[in-house]
Amino acid sequence: MTALVIDGKQLAQKLRSEWKLRADRLNAAGMAPGLAAVVIGDNPASKIYVRNKIKACREIGIRSEEHVLGAGSTLPAVLALIDRLNADAGIHGILVQLPLPAQLAPAVVIERISPDKDVDGLHSRNLGSLLSGHPRFVPCTPAGIMEMLKTTGLNLRGKEAVVVGRSNIVGKPVALLLLQAGATVTLCHSQTRNLAQHTRRADVLVCAIGKPHAIGGEMIKLGAAVIDVGINRSAEEKLVGDVDYGAALQRAGWITPVPGGVGPMTIAMLLCNTILSAERHAAEQGIQLGA
Ligand code: GUN
Repeated sequence: MTALVIDGKQLAQKLRSEWKLRADRLNAAGMAPGLAAVVIGDNPASKIYVRNKIKACREIGIRSEEHVLGAGSTLPAVLALIDRLNADAGIHGILVQLPLPAQLAPAVVIERISPDKDVDGLHSRNLGSLLSGHPRFVPCTPAGIMEMLKTTGLNLRGKEAVVVGRSNIVGKPVALLLLQAGATVTLCHSQTRNLAQHTRRADVLVCAIGKPHAIGGEMIKLGAAVIDVGINRSAEEKLVGDVDYGAALQRAGWITPVPGGVGPMTIAMLLCNTILSAERHAAEQGIQLGA
């Protein structure tokens, strides 16, 4: 069996051209959608991710601004910036790129973002809405994963879905979305005993561990849809996922590549959430958007 490759770059491009029309309508109505991205510290990967997010905004007509704070920034300084962005009527989405320097507790920083502008969907109010089955903003990577699964045509009802990794940003929310779609969900993590015993049962396998090649071919059920969220540097400095891609190609039904899989979809869903937020804002103000 040779797996079908789910091309995240191509899918993101297609979705972005649809959303551009929505951004155009907002701009035409004088409600330019606006995103503020906050990067704190010198994490090189974070800088690249945020640069890519800003570029993607520009391409579809979202106004964006980048706020760069030093690695030694204090909590009051960060919270003051967030307060300012919360109060800015031209900003509909705020994202604080993670990870944060050690002196800043992510939970405290994220909780300060207005839930109405939390386009990452990480505020406890938004995670709570997701848990209750009525999400307002779905976290971007999990939302992107669900869009990728849609392209397989698989009906998730009754399927075995196994998620490896229990982060607030990917593992837990994607498990909730799969559950909502009717899958039977197993959430595995670093303490899970005999991981392969779980992954081998998975019709849908989502890997978000952050360890190169942690999932070998023998851990994959024949014909499974395998979503690889990992972005790791191999010993040869190449970007690789959590899954042994070559081996998985021979066993899976569908597989997402790294790079060019989940990464571009995360950015696409951020754009979608920002547009959604601006549309809500327009509706609250009684602004009519053209057809
Ligand atoms: N770091 C890695 N992925 C993400 C993301 O989707 N949002 C934020 N804010 N930080 C991240």
